[in-house]
Amino acid sequence: MLLHLLFSLFAFVTFIDSGNAGVTSSFTRGEFPTVDIPLDNEVFAVPKGYNAPQQVHITQGDYDGKAVLISWVTPDKPGTSEVRYGLSEGKYEFTAKGSFTNYTFYTYKSGYIHKCLLNGLQYDTKYYYEIGDGDSARSFWFETPPKVDPDASYKFGIIGDLGQTYDSLSTLQHYMNSGAKTVLFVGDLSYADRYKYHNVGVRWDSWGRFVEPSTAYQTWIWNTGNHEIEYMPYMDEVTMFKSYLYRYPTPYQASKSTSPLWYSIRRASAHIIVLSAYSPFVKYTPQWKWLREEFKNVDRKKTPWLIVLMHVPIYNSNVAHFMEGESLRSVFEAWFVEHKVDVVFAGHVHAYERSYRVSNIRFNISSGDPYPVPDKSAPVYITVGDGGNQEGLAVRFRDPQPDYSAFREASYGHSTLEIQNRTHALYHWNRNDDGKKVKIDSFVLHNLYWGSRRKLNKNRLRSVILNKASTAQQ
Ligand SMILES: [Fe+2]
Repeated sequence: MLLHLLFSLFAFVTFIDSGNAGVTSSFTRGEFPTVDIPLDNEVFAVPKGYNAPQQVHITQGDYDGKAVLISWVTPDKPGTSEVRYGLSEGKYEFTAKGSFTNYTFYTYKSGYIHKCLLNGLQYDTKYYYEIGDGDSARSFWFETPPKVDPDASYKFGIIGDLGQTYDSLSTLQHYMNSGAKTVLFVGDLSYADRYKYHNVGVRWDSWGRFVEPSTAYQTWIWNTGNHEIEYMPYMDEVTMFKSYLYRYPTPYQASKSTSPLWYSIRRASAHIIVLSAYSPFVKYTPQWKWLREEFKNVDRKKTPWLIVLMHVPIYNSNVAHFMEGESLRSVFEAWFVEHKVDVVFAGHVHAYERSYRVSNIRFNISSGDPYPVPDKSAPVYITVGDGGNQEGLAVRFRDPQPDYSAFREASYGHSTLEIQNRTHALYHWNRNDDGKKVKIDSFVLHNLYWGSRRKLNKNRLRSVILNKASTAQQ
């Protein structure tokens, strides 16, 4: 408790110290060449056994975390789509039946892509599961989240723009040592679209095997980026997000979305909204209508933490992709402030940046102040597009650093958000430095809904009265 208080005090003093003057870290490091790891490297190894399942990944399968959606690929023939699972290793008392599909991309023909929903699971429980046939069967495990509860503690990781380079591997390995339970992925998965013809599909497959050491064991909440669009008319492939949609199912129907590209889930004490920056989002579009309704479903008394994931950052001061989030900002920023979104995570820019709580919603095209101003109801905007893909770092920041920018550095890394209770969460950005995980930017995130002490005290008083009343009745 004392430690926690000291940490909070330290973070507060650091915040006051920094005032409005943001920090531009001069540290940049590209430890490895910015090339994709060759296909014959062991990180892409095909699992042993005829038709063995590969590219295993899991995501949340429902709204509240009692279901898991498991997906994998079998290369030679369909085989079984069932998942055998249970509460102890090697003992699979339950079976769930799934389905499979496949697709072509120019001359590339995908393997058989399976998906299977495990529902009615218990909260906060470790499950073991097995997929595949006979000697080629493979087994893994996962842990379900705690029940949706305002004070449920939970540690999320945030990764963006990962790709499949040596830097990507470094980020993945550092993340896997972080102790986080679920990845909030902010788009741009494999960078397979950097390849041509047949090799696009090949690099989707290699990426699926590359991330499997994490994705087979814990939930990754998926989101798309521009590299998932794959609009490639030169080879007659013009269906947007085709590879992604076949390979990375999401539980969109659970949040009444009509597209796998935007949806939301609740997990522990967080309500997480996933937006698609490259799908229509202006007024009257399906995504706009869905988000308007979904904000009404957010209940901060059940899920105090409101988190938005979108690929393109709204507040970015890097030369790369500067202003690209402006159209999204003009449509959604006012809602983010109105609904007191705690934090917006984005990727796209291959560097790290964190904003102060600012908004720019007073300006309209006729009048008003056109500059962002400090706003206590606004989210913190964090860009974590520094997973480490083959396009390399975005090393040029705009100068001078704008007032909205609190900290920025062009290095590879990932973030963690460790929710403690309804009022506090510890946030860290971890730079990949010489093979070690180094914590660089950290602060205590105060919940925007429960941040007001009056509300908290009122709620505590209410629960004391209710508890007394229920004790009196017993
Ligand atoms: Fe991107």
